[in-house]
Amino acid sequence: MQLSFEKSVAGRRTYVLPAPDVPKYELPAEMRRTLELPLPEMGEPDINRHYSALERRSFGVNDGPYPLGSCTMKYNPIINDQLASLPGFTQIHPLQEIDTVQGCLQALVEAEKFLAAVTGMDRMTFQPAAGAHGEFTALLMVKAYHEDRGDSERTQIIVPDSAHGTNPASAAMAGFETVNIPSNEAGGVDLDGLKKVLGPKTAGLMLTNPNTLGIFDPNIEEITALVHEAGGLNYYDGANLNAVMGVARPGDMGFDLVHLNLHKTFSTPHGGGGPGSGPVGCKAFLAEFLPHDMPIARKGEDGEYVYDLEVPEKTIGRVRSFYGNFLVTLKAYAYALRLGKAGIRAAALTAVLNANYMAEGLRDYYDISVPGPYMHEFVLTIEPLRQEYGITAMDIAKAIQEKGIHPPTMYFPLNVKEALMVEPTETESRETLDMMIEALREIRSRVDSDPESLRQAPRTTVIGRPDETTAARNPILRYTEPEAE
Ligand SMILES: Cc1ncc(COP(=O)(O)O)c(C=O)c1O
Repeated sequence: MQLSFEKSVAGRRTYVLPAPDVPKYELPAEMRRTLELPLPEMGEPDINRHYSALERRSFGVNDGPYPLGSCTMKYNPIINDQLASLPGFTQIHPLQEIDTVQGCLQALVEAEKFLAAVTGMDRMTFQPAAGAHGEFTALLMVKAYHEDRGDSERTQIIVPDSAHGTNPASAAMAGFETVNIPSNEAGGVDLDGLKKVLGPKTAGLMLTNPNTLGIFDPNIEEITALVHEAGGLNYYDGANLNAVMGVARPGDMGFDLVHLNLHKTFSTPHGGGGPGSGPVGCKAFLAEFLPHDMPIARKGEDGEYVYDLEVPEKTIGRVRSFYGNFLVTLKAYAYALRLGKAGIRAAALTAVLNANYMAEGLRDYYDISVPGPYMHEFVLTIEPLRQEYGITAMDIAKAIQEKGIHPPTMYFPLNVKEALMVEPTETESRETLDMMIEALREIRSRVDSDPESLRQAPRTTVIGRPDETTAARNPILRYTEPEAE
């Protein structure tokens, strides 16, 4: 497909700029562009066709099911985008006087209250822009907490082998040493393994619960108590909160800090380069370390609330400008208001039901990594098929694309060989779940009858099997005009 630059014809125009609503101002000569701006020049029909063609080459949740494990690619209601697009929210500037943005601060304070209630935390900051950024922020708070107590020998963060790769990466970035612990047979934390590594160097534990195998750890209270006894803090990676919101709260499980991925659970799509939001919640005893500024509500003399910003006493500083991705927070708030307490719980229960429904539909056809029951997701292992027929997780993932389904997450978590991690989410209907089950069963039948068709898949997409290693190691991200080559 040609790029828009290649389709450009000099002199073609398609713009209708609104009339200016501010006085005209001549830019000083030294600030004006001296070179032509090399933008593509196209007519309106050609631009529309260009973008429609690009859209057809892509795949999104509007095209079909997207069971990408641990990514919660659910359908996000459009109304929440519409609410977050209201001019009162979008036509403001973060440096405006505080008394002119009272409604926005109120929305932040109320969103904080909602998410604190869902997680069992006392305070919450919306500054972090993604899950990993939230992890990093929380770990800086863990560090500040120990240092504040003169406990500077606590340099280790414990991470189970089923953790998302961002956990050890965030720990390293925050200046900690990562200590890995194994999972037990059932996919949970191995208690003996944990006990072995706990000690005076333990700064904290990072845990996802339910974890990336879709398992809710039945020993969770014992795990968090052991870490507390050793003097460490418990950090909850809330990326999988979709499975437990409204049902179980990290704060009640013994966690001191949590990050959430609003761009999974709370009405913002995950992926596509953002914007996202990874708010961090904490228990009251850690609130003095939160980043600034924290929006707060004060009751005025007339009994009305006045909204303001506050700098926590021992703050770790800013981790991002202003209030994070404000419009993403608004979408989460709108989602909460529309669903209410019962709706939030129903969403989690349906996500769990859908994952178990699919797992049962596939149990006789594929091996599942651990017995279950599962929460939001389950992990198939294609290793037996690889050994017997040479068919890999990659082959199955490629074949499912021919059926209009996005592939599950592949080769993750790392403690499962030839992993395919399936997360159907609560927004898929029973018919869609049945369709996915049927597709995977049919693919399984071809493993013995027609394995070559799987090795050649996908045969219906624009690109079949790109050289992903070269694409990752030698990305060509800059367009070079052909004649300049
Ligand atoms: C379990 C888990 N933790 C952390 C993250 C990191 O979140 P982000 O991609 O927003 O940085 C993810 C991302 O998918 C995840 O699945």
